Amino acid sequence: MEYETLLVSVQERVGLITLNRPKALNALNSQLVAELNQALDQLEADAGVGCIVITGSAKAFAAGADIKEMSAFGFPQIYLDDFFAAADRIGARRKPLIAAVAGYALGGGCELALMCDFIYAAENARFGLPELTLGVIPGIGGTQRLTHALGKAKAMEPCLTGRQLTAEEAERAGLVARVLPAESLLDETLAVARGIAGKSLPAAMMTKECVNRAFELGLNEGVRFERRLFHSLFASADQKEGMNAFVEKRAPHFTHR
Ligand code: HXC
Repeated sequence: MEYETLLVSVQERVGLITLNRPKALNALNSQLVAELNQALDQLEADAGVGCIVITGSAKAFAAGADIKEMSAFGFPQIYLDDFFAAADRIGARRKPLIAAVAGYALGGGCELALMCDFIYAAENARFGLPELTLGVIPGIGGTQRLTHALGKAKAMEPCLTGRQLTAEEAERAGLVARVLPAESLLDETLAVARGIAGKSLPAAMMTKECVNRAFELGLNEGVRFERRLFHSLFASADQKEGMNAFVEKRAPHFTHR
């Protein structure tokens, strides 16, 4: 499938989506969000894909929602259209999703990265929610996901001031899983993605589901949810193969990849 705002490829069981509006620093307009959902639909439906990476350019992962598009909008139309509710589908994906962020991840760009399961950042990455500067607030989960990731004080300060967090600060605060040299960001992210994609896909997807439940359930309910999924995996050929391979001192060959 061809896209105007994205580049999409699949290699070694990893789907790679590159945001591709360089002249607008990958600002997210309605077309890009629609195409991103189409690309994710395509990669989630592809049995040959076990992990998905979203990246941008060396200068910008994405510099926010497209201000030029939004500037003409008015209420109640934006409300009636439920503008950017389509973005919720990005955060509801079931296959593992990694953000490889270099340069600016601002506003909606930061929020998009936060929708991914984890973020690898280049040393030059900058994370910020500058919406208040524009007379609005984040609209695709930024205030919620940043607060879950950082806690109230660490999230409130950049939300209210628009201050950008450096990659190193973002890693220290728990927003970013690892900081990598800019030149190797994508290669290292793809290598990690290939590792995930080589595992049993149902087990990887259940892992993601369980970690995400930690944000929704109390501890006891969460542990019970995890235990039931753990039990269910003993009905899979991959559990037999994974454990037999360990006992036999060989690499596993999973069926459900
Ligand atoms: C539309 C954008 C854009 C954006 C950059 N551009 N960000 N267009 N929407 N969010 C465009 C510029 O207008 C310019 O186009 C080109 O990209 C290059 O940008 P420059 O500003 O010339 O680059 P630079 O001087 O390097 O500054 C980079 C920057 C700055 C610091 C990232 O572009 C910036 O502050 N952008 C806006 C960041 C922002 O406020 N994001 C939050 C958006 S609100 P031309 O045509 O002039 O060359 C948001 C709400 C989400 O995200 C809510 C969800 C619904």
